Amino acid sequence: MKTFVIGIGGVTNGGKTTLAKNLQKHLPNCSVISQDDFFKPESEVETDKNGFLQYDVLEALNMEEMMSAISCWMESPGHSVESTDGTSGEEIPILIIEGFLLFNYKPLDTVCNRSYFLTIPYEECKRRRSTRVYKPPDPPGYFDGHVWPMYLKHRREMEDITREIVYLDGTKPEEDLFAQVYEDVIQQLAKEKFWKMLLSTIP
Ligand SMILES: Nc1ncnc2c1ncn2[C@@H]1O[C@H](COP(=O)(O)OP(=O)(O)O)[C@@H](O)[C@H]1O
Ligand SMILES: [Mg+2]
Repeated sequence: MKTFVIGIGGVTNGGKTTLAKNLQKHLPNCSVISQDDFFKPESEVETDKNGFLQYDVLEALNMEEMMSAISCWMESPGHSVESTDGTSGEEIPILIIEGFLLFNYKPLDTVCNRSYFLTIPYEECKRRRSTRVYKPPDPPGYFDGHVWPMYLKHRREMEDITREIVYLDGTKPEEDLFAQVYEDVIQQLAKEKFWKMLLSTIP
């Protein structure tokens, strides 16, 4: 079955989950898989010399489990995870994968039909992060000592990725970001439908 997979990556507190939820509300037959649901238990996360738990690295995530959840959805699109109700089965099933470390994980390279990356500046990121309560809570100095340096490292690694990633300014209002991405997704889906139609005319 034809499917359409959207990847939403980006910095912590960049607005990934907010954008994913807004899209899911308006796209038919759309499911969401969040990378945050695949963190390993604290006891399995490494600690550095400063005593900071190393959460913002791929090793802190159970990525095999996340890939299984994606494969599961692919096998039975729209049924394995929560999806929007009341949509006709004719629509291409859409999966949104959202998380802070998507594009540095090679096995995901071939999964997404369209990839977005939300960025916000350091100050805004630190401000938004400070308003959130994490489990376990961020210890003093954690943002500057682990979160932001890891983000910069992963951003640098992403520079080697050749496939197209659409960068989004996460400081824009939530509604504007939604409108921008929604329009783009609709355009992409129209292209997919066009190719499907064209291919069906080939004897
Ligand atoms: N476009 C936006 N402008 C301002 N604040 C936003 C925007 N999008 C999300 N937020 C706020 O930023 C915080 C993080 O949003 P969230 O979607 O959870 O980010 P992420 O999933 O990337 O960590 C929340 O408090 C949310 O309300
Ligand atoms: Mg989130």
